[in-house]
Amino acid sequence: MQLQNDLLLRAARGEKTERTPVWLMRQAGRILPEYRAVRNSLSGFIELVQTPELAAEVTIQPVDLLGVDAAIIFSDILVIPEAMGLPYEMVEKKGPFFPDTIRSEKDMKGLRQADPESDLGYVLEAIRITKRELNGRVPLIGFAGAPWTIFAYMTEGSGSKTFSVARGLLYRNPALAHALLEKITDSTIAYLKAQIAAGADIVQVFDSWAGILSPDQYEAFSLKYIDKICRAITEVPVTVFAKGAYFARKAIGKLDCRTVGLDWNMDIQESRELVGKEKTLQGNLDPCALYGSYDQVREATKKMLDAFGPYRHIANLGHGVYPDTDPDKVRCFIDTVKEYSTTLR
Ligand code: CP3
Repeated sequence: MQLQNDLLLRAARGEKTERTPVWLMRQAGRILPEYRAVRNSLSGFIELVQTPELAAEVTIQPVDLLGVDAAIIFSDILVIPEAMGLPYEMVEKKGPFFPDTIRSEKDMKGLRQADPESDLGYVLEAIRITKRELNGRVPLIGFAGAPWTIFAYMTEGSGSKTFSVARGLLYRNPALAHALLEKITDSTIAYLKAQIAAGADIVQVFDSWAGILSPDQYEAFSLKYIDKICRAITEVPVTVFAKGAYFARKAIGKLDCRTVGLDWNMDIQESRELVGKEKTLQGNLDPCALYGSYDQVREATKKMLDAFGPYRHIANLGHGVYPDTDPDKVRCFIDTVKEYSTTLR
């Protein structure tokens, strides 16, 4: 189907657009009272993720309520470990928890390669419903975690300040680490391809824990596998967001992806030079800037747009929007991008 608003896809491909497209990481979620209403009618987050009609509904909410230029399918990166045989729980106010973890060859034996149709059919169905209900208004973003970030959760068993179990394993048993990363990568490629077949117009790979590795380890244990994913996904543009990997921007610029996500620690001009002119950049306002006054939000947004320039930029935050952000400040950010970016052309 022809999209009515394809600004995001054109910007990703490096084409000139009338204005800069804008969406927010974690736009579907707790900032919206309408999301909380749907969520509170269920037993929890995982039930919402596994109920395609409702996942589609909360995916579309930010398009209707905030005016973003893309929807991102409501799911989580942790559906992949579950599809491989390692289920997760979402503990209220604490985050993800894995009752079992992978720390030895013996633990690996229980894992399988994810089969998207049988193990992740609920995500694919949510994508099909969302596409039907969006009816071409904006593109739909599919996503997955980068293998290293998924590895970090599967070995550590939860979030962590240090991820010392996950990083320790890279020293203790690099062969096991590579075997697990390989299995996650192959599962992720199959999953992303299935998302695209179901209707995803672009896909993003989230390497949320990129920044905790040394540059050498990042190259060996993360980039290698992101590179494999980028080369395998030829159907739609790919975005790579490696949070904290300022040391790897040059290497990320060489990946076979269209868009590179920046966090707010990364200087915009310097990133443009390191990543190169052939890529579109996405980001990178500090999510905390939305705690400022309306004037401060407008000023910070304009400063960001000036630094990126009019083309090869998709406006976003430098990480997911924080749950206690006022939706009106989010609207102010979005409206400022829409209005001010037209004046830069
Ligand atoms: O709007 C969107 O961006 C789409 C939905 C989305 C969610 N998770 C929903 C969610 C996306 C893209 C993710 C990705 C994700 N999940 C990442 C990568 C991006 C990042 O933030 O770095 C990571 C690391 C996770 C793992 C995860 N899921 C954590 C650590 C947590 C707990 C902390 C938190 O933010 O709540 C989650 C839970 C989660 N995923 C929620 C949502 C809306 C909150 C659950 C709830 O409603 O209570």
